[in-house]
Amino acid sequence: MKALAILKYGGPEQLQIVETALPKPGRSDVLIRVHAAGVNPVDYKIRNGSLKWLTGSKFPKILGGDVAGIVEQAGKNSVYKPGDKVFAMLGFRGGAYAEFVVVKEAWLCHMPDVINMEDAAATPLASLTALQGLRKGGEINPDDKVLINGASGGVGSFAVQIAKAMGAHVTGVCSTKNIEFVQELGADEVIDYTTDDFTKTDQKYQKVYDAVAKSSFGKCKKILDSGGIYITTIPGAGIMLQKSFNFLRDKKAASVMAKPLGTDLTFIADLMKKGLVRAYVEKAFSLEQGAEAHKMIETERVRGKIIMKIIP
Ligand SMILES: NC(=O)c1ccc[n+]([C@@H]2O[C@H](COP(=O)([O-])OP(=O)(O)OC[C@H]3O[C@@H](n4cnc5c(N)ncnc54)[C@H](OP(=O)(O)O)[C@@H]3O)[C@@H](O)[C@H]2O)c1
Repeated sequence: MKALAILKYGGPEQLQIVETALPKPGRSDVLIRVHAAGVNPVDYKIRNGSLKWLTGSKFPKILGGDVAGIVEQAGKNSVYKPGDKVFAMLGFRGGAYAEFVVVKEAWLCHMPDVINMEDAAATPLASLTALQGLRKGGEINPDDKVLINGASGGVGSFAVQIAKAMGAHVTGVCSTKNIEFVQELGADEVIDYTTDDFTKTDQKYQKVYDAVAKSSFGKCKKILDSGGIYITTIPGAGIMLQKSFNFLRDKKAASVMAKPLGTDLTFIADLMKKGLVRAYVEKAFSLEQGAEAHKMIETERVRGKIIMKIIP
């Protein structure tokens, strides 16, 4: 099969089209014919070797942590049958930048009829990070005030919609050019980070979700309500230290590491069926344009999501 892989860690130029053997599904796996793959910041972090302590030194390495496609082969007791349209997050194992990928059945979800392959490929990793992050510190109660920093990005655009679907009053933080987009996502209020510092507002929030991990618990605790929680998407040393003091404090610090749970993706799919959540794809690339896709995701300026179409 054709795949886009790296033969060593490095820049976007390391992404090369290779011919490789079809992956073999294990007992609890399903073989998917890939139609589209999501492109996420973690893909470039894997490509450039920043995460090699996790991703090892075995090459070629096929990247891609989000897949949308059609079931090619499944076990005889599987709930999935050849021909089913499915989507999934693949975790650090990746493999979606290819014509076929093997996915654990527990990570899969049937694609809702209301979305196409491109939107489906854009959804799993970002929406699961949004959902699992927003659940930190307990479920959102109707009318809770939730602030999303980085509301125009992949994780942030899903977080705004999911928090709204849960009944929260949502404030989105983005730059001037994305204000209308974040309003369109459903945010009740928008703060432009190029003109205003959201950590200096008089408002208090039950949850501050730092989807782009550009702030800190230290800066945000002033705007947390009593019992409130700050959640970041990068589990660095600073947040780990802050988490260890949570038992002493009323206001908590948390980080999220997205898990590829099919059950959580089903929750997202249901919100999509109800018209409460959708993916926003800024640009679609071909597999051959993988290096361009990586250059774009590395800018940290993507509005919504970008994807690669494996079947044009
Ligand atoms: N822990 C996990 O499991 C997990 C999972 C997914 C992602 N992540 C991490 O979470 C981060 C965000 O991921 P993503 O997919 O949302 O990224 P993304 O889509 O590439 O984020 C791009 C967006 O961030 C906005 N942005 C950039 N700098 C900003 C700032 N200083 N303040 C507010 N917004 C800013 C940009 O808007 P402007 O152009 O308007 O600034 C753009 O719309 C990445 O570091 C990623 O690696 C972690």
